Amino acid sequence: MINPKYTEQTRARYNRIAPIYDLMEILPERRFVPWRRQLWAQVPAGKVLEVGVGTGKNFPYHPEGAEITGIDLSDGMLARARNKAQSLGKTLDLRQMDAQSLDFPDDTFDAAVATFVFCSIPDPMLALNELARVVKPGGKIFLLDHVRIDRPIIGTLMDIMNPFTVRLTGANINRRTAENVRRSPLAVESVTDLGPLDVVKLIVADAPNG
Ligand SMILES: C[S@@+](CC[C@H](N)C(=O)[O-])C[C@H]1O[C@@H](n2cnc3c(N)ncnc32)[C@H](O)[C@@H]1O
Repeated sequence: MINPKYTEQTRARYNRIAPIYDLMEILPERRFVPWRRQLWAQVPAGKVLEVGVGTGKNFPYHPEGAEITGIDLSDGMLARARNKAQSLGKTLDLRQMDAQSLDFPDDTFDAAVATFVFCSIPDPMLALNELARVVKPGGKIFLLDHVRIDRPIIGTLMDIMNPFTVRLTGANINRRTAENVRRSPLAVESVTDLGPLDVVKLIVADAPNG
């Protein structure tokens, strides 16, 4: 069940961060760009849902001919995404929506993408269930995210630091997103380790059949 208080806190946090988000991300973004390209190169040119578009960092990599619907919880982030789409001359359907409760009928999309979003969604299992519902059977779900490093000392340090990173940046640094996908109705196709100590994962999964 959606936790309204945590969800509202998440929205408020990203509204606060929105004006400085691109600045905050300037250094890590250099490393992220090749991973974004690697992900989007695999996305089919059909009806694609981008969850948590943020300020629109993925817009330059959307596949030619894809019909993209982008959603985000934060209207502050979305306002920036709209400006980015306009400056790139892209026509996108951008809507304010909660990934934990998507306002789309079953089997709407050919694929779905979320980059650095499942670290911040209040209840990631609800959102994974929603992706399984709105992506057509056999359609692909692509997730790029940082996860908990499951090593003795560093993992514990991440757990200790997590309340601070959530408060400061909205991001949980100790999510086990690949394991969460395995626990969801999605079928994991591949998990690619990226970054130092494999802290980032590119997860490709299939929506369930029926
Ligand atoms: C770290 S930012 C990532 C933005 C973008 N995807 C990127 O790669 O730069 C996380 C984004 O997820 C959004 N978000 C968090 N929880 C969400 C939810 N429940 N539904 C939709 N968007 C959500 C936040 O508002 C924020 O824009």
